[in-house]
Amino acid sequence: MPRVVLGVAGGIAAYKAVELLRQLTETGHDVTVVPTDAALAFVGAPTWAALSGKPVSASTWDRVHEVPHVRIGQEADLVVVAPATANLLAKAAHGLADDLLTNTLLTARCPVVMAPAMHTEMWEHPATRANVATLRSRGVLVVEPAVGRLTGKDSGKGRLPEPEELAHLVRQVLARGSADLDLAGRRVVVSSGGTREHLDPVRYLGNRSSGRQGHALARAAVARGAEVVLVSSSGLPDPAGVKVLKVTSAQEMHDAVLAEARSADAVVMAAAVADYRPAERLAVKRKKTDTLDVEFVQNPDILAALVAARGQGQIVVGFAAETGDDHATVIEHGRAKLARKGCDLLVVNEVGESGHPTGFEGTHNAATVLGADGSTTDVPLVTKDALADVVWDLVAARL
Ligand code: CTP
Repeated sequence: MPRVVLGVAGGIAAYKAVELLRQLTETGHDVTVVPTDAALAFVGAPTWAALSGKPVSASTWDRVHEVPHVRIGQEADLVVVAPATANLLAKAAHGLADDLLTNTLLTARCPVVMAPAMHTEMWEHPATRANVATLRSRGVLVVEPAVGRLTGKDSGKGRLPEPEELAHLVRQVLARGSADLDLAGRRVVVSSGGTREHLDPVRYLGNRSSGRQGHALARAAVARGAEVVLVSSSGLPDPAGVKVLKVTSAQEMHDAVLAEARSADAVVMAAAVADYRPAERLAVKRKKTDTLDVEFVQNPDILAALVAARGQGQIVVGFAAETGDDHATVIEHGRAKLARKGCDLLVVNEVGESGHPTGFEGTHNAATVLGADGSTTDVPLVTKDALADVVWDLVAARL
């Protein structure tokens, strides 16, 4: 059972950490909650103790014979601080140790994840920026706050990401078993979901892509320290620490991906982009007729446009769902597509006998990753999170 320390600092988002605790214990983690005194002003010790099944204290002076200020950090497989306030970030950056949580942060040698939550002004203050930079330079995974509603009527950057998404990120870091932030300082763009091509204000043509593989890629990149932009036409919740740009059609995805790609080190096109769209999008609802004739026109090929516009050293990754036929195997088709598209890596899914690519809708995926350098990496049926890490291993090796 992985041992997780959940540090909770004194911000209103402490109430969301209760749900994070719940998510982690439900998925089989042994969680020790270490709140600060200020956190206990928001959510009391009995709540943390009841849900974690362990005694809870903010102080180094309880159960001193067990030396908790050293033991808790030493024994942890991962420490996650959520919410991390501006004050907690400052204390951690400067190595202060005046309560149980700050002592724990000094003794932990495992991966440390901090999810800051505060008002936008505090997040943007030069003092906080410097503290975050210091923590990141020491290998702490500081998750970018979400944009949205803050404590009062105001909104902006500074929200704690949703607990379910934080729990997923924690599991991702634990599954990788490494605190190596090999994508730190890198900016990556990922696309996800199936595009929707509108016929009229009510109807669209779409496909079965859920967006799960693209979301997993975005999450895995966050877990490795990257700055991540996700251009998505999927309805899945935003992964923690990711800037999400919502789009609908292939044309919108094209515009957003190309704009974001300009300053990116890597771009991964995991989206299922429609090759065609109705030539005309009616302004009013189409009425029923005996037959339906719709003219289609080609959508831009985003991957091809990315390759054409690619900057020095940028890595471009495509996906392809293929079947074998009389002329070529799945891999031969994949190789030909890789050459045609001109990208660095192509993740090839075989479309199964049922007609479904392994990838669609499920939580697992199997693939072969082809490299422009001739490399072939076979990935057996694994979770989409695990496949995402294989893709980033290959990207990181090429950056
Ligand atoms: N793709 C894209 N823009 C499109 C269509 C596809 O960027 N208009 C990307 C997909 O995101 C994927 C890759 O190209 O990463 C391969 O998609 P696929 O549909 O297999 O490519 P096609 O060129 O349409 O090949 P095929 O003729 O086999 O459909």
